[in-house]
Amino acid sequence: MTNSAPVSARRDLTDAPLLVAARGGKPRHTPVWFMRQAGRSLPEYRKVREGTPMLQACLTPELVAEITMQPVRRHGVDAAILFSDIVLPLYAAGVGLDIVAGTGPVVSRPISGPSDVSALPSLAPEQVAPVADAVGLLVKELGSTPLIGFAGAPFTLASYLVEGGPSRNHERTKALMHSDPQTWHVLLEKLADTTLEFLRVQLGAGVDAIQLFDSWAGALSLRDYREFVLPHSRRIFEGVAEISDVPKIHFGVGTGELLGAMRSAGPEVVGVDWRVPLDTAVARLCAAEPGAAAPVVQGNLDPAVLFAGWDAVEREVHRILEEGRDAGGHIFNLGHGVLPTTDPEILSRVVELVHTATAQR
Ligand code: CP3
Repeated sequence: MTNSAPVSARRDLTDAPLLVAARGGKPRHTPVWFMRQAGRSLPEYRKVREGTPMLQACLTPELVAEITMQPVRRHGVDAAILFSDIVLPLYAAGVGLDIVAGTGPVVSRPISGPSDVSALPSLAPEQVAPVADAVGLLVKELGSTPLIGFAGAPFTLASYLVEGGPSRNHERTKALMHSDPQTWHVLLEKLADTTLEFLRVQLGAGVDAIQLFDSWAGALSLRDYREFVLPHSRRIFEGVAEISDVPKIHFGVGTGELLGAMRSAGPEVVGVDWRVPLDTAVARLCAAEPGAAAPVVQGNLDPAVLFAGWDAVEREVHRILEEGRDAGGHIFNLGHGVLPTTDPEILSRVVELVHTATAQR
C-alpha cells in the first residue's frame, strides 16, 4: 500500500457524468449542478451558519464540508461545489475585507494606485490550510460525486478591490485599466498568482474539477477583455494544466460577446448565462475557433424562472436540453447563482427532470 497517490486517484470517478461530459464523452445522463447550490436557499444551511460570519465559516473545515454536502444530499446533483468565496484567498492573505449580508464583499481600503498594488499581500498556501482540510474531509465523504473547486478570476477580484465593493458600472476599475495600464497589469498579475495558489491548494487536496468565476467580465468590451484580462486568466488555466488534468470550467455573466475569447483562455467547458441560447453559444464558439472540437457548454436556466411555477420551469428545462444537444457536451446549470428565496423543492425537481429526460438517450 502506498499513500503517495493524490487523494482523487483513490476514488473511482471514471463514470461520473460531470467529468465524462466535461471531457466531451457520452455520460449516462446529462449532469446537473447549480451555481450557489450551497447557501441561503436551504434552511439547513441557515441553521448551521447561524452565528458564524461568512469568512469564518469558510475557514472552518467541518462546517465547509457540511455545507458543501447539504445540496448533494438534498438534490442529488452530479457535483458538489466547495463552500467558499472568491474573496477568501484575499482575506486569508491579509487584505482588509468582509462579506456583508445582502451586499457582498466590502474592502476597507480600496486600491487606487501603484503603491496600493505593491502593498497587496500575496497568498501563502498555509493561510488557506483549512480549505485543504475541508477538501480532504469532502473527498472521503463524497464517494462517486465529484467535487468542484473554484476561484475568482483576476478581473472580478480586481473589481472588488478597486471599487471597494460590488459595482454596477465598474467605473474606477475601468479608469485604472485605461489610465494606468502598467499598474493594471501588475495588479492582475498579482491576483492571478493568488488565484493560482488558491487553486493549487485545492487541487493538491483532491478537487476533481475547477471553475474559474469571472462573474463581472461581461462589463467589458471584447477589445478590452482581450487586452486587459485574457492574458491573466489564460496564465491561470495554463498553470492549472501544468499540475493537474482535471477539467476546467470558465464562467461569467453577460459574456455573450466574450465566449470565444473566454474559451481561448484554456478551459474545457464554457459557462453560458441565460441571455444566450446554448445553440447560439455553440455556434459562436465554433465560429471563433474554426476546426476546434465542438465546445462543451454549461448552463443556462435563468435563475428567476425558478419562481414561475413548475410548468414554466419544465418547459424551459426541455428547451435548454434541446438547445444543448449539438454541443460537444452539456452540463446543465443555471445561468447564474441560485437566488436566496428560491424554493429548494423546485431545484430537486429540476435535477430529477434533467436526469430522467436524458437517461440512455
Ligand atoms: O454553492 C456554491 O456555489 C458555493 C459557494 C460560493 C459562494 N460564493 C458562497 C457565498 C461560490 C462559488 C461563491 C463565489 C462568488 N462569490 C462569486 C462568483 C459567483 C457569482 O455569483 O458570480 C462572487 C461574485 C462572490 C462575491 C460574493 N460573495 C457575493 C456577490 C455575495 C452575496 C452577498 C449577499 O449576501 O447577497 C457573497 C456572499 C456569499 N458567498 C454567500 C454565500 C453562500 C452569502 C453569505 C451568507 O450566506 O451569509
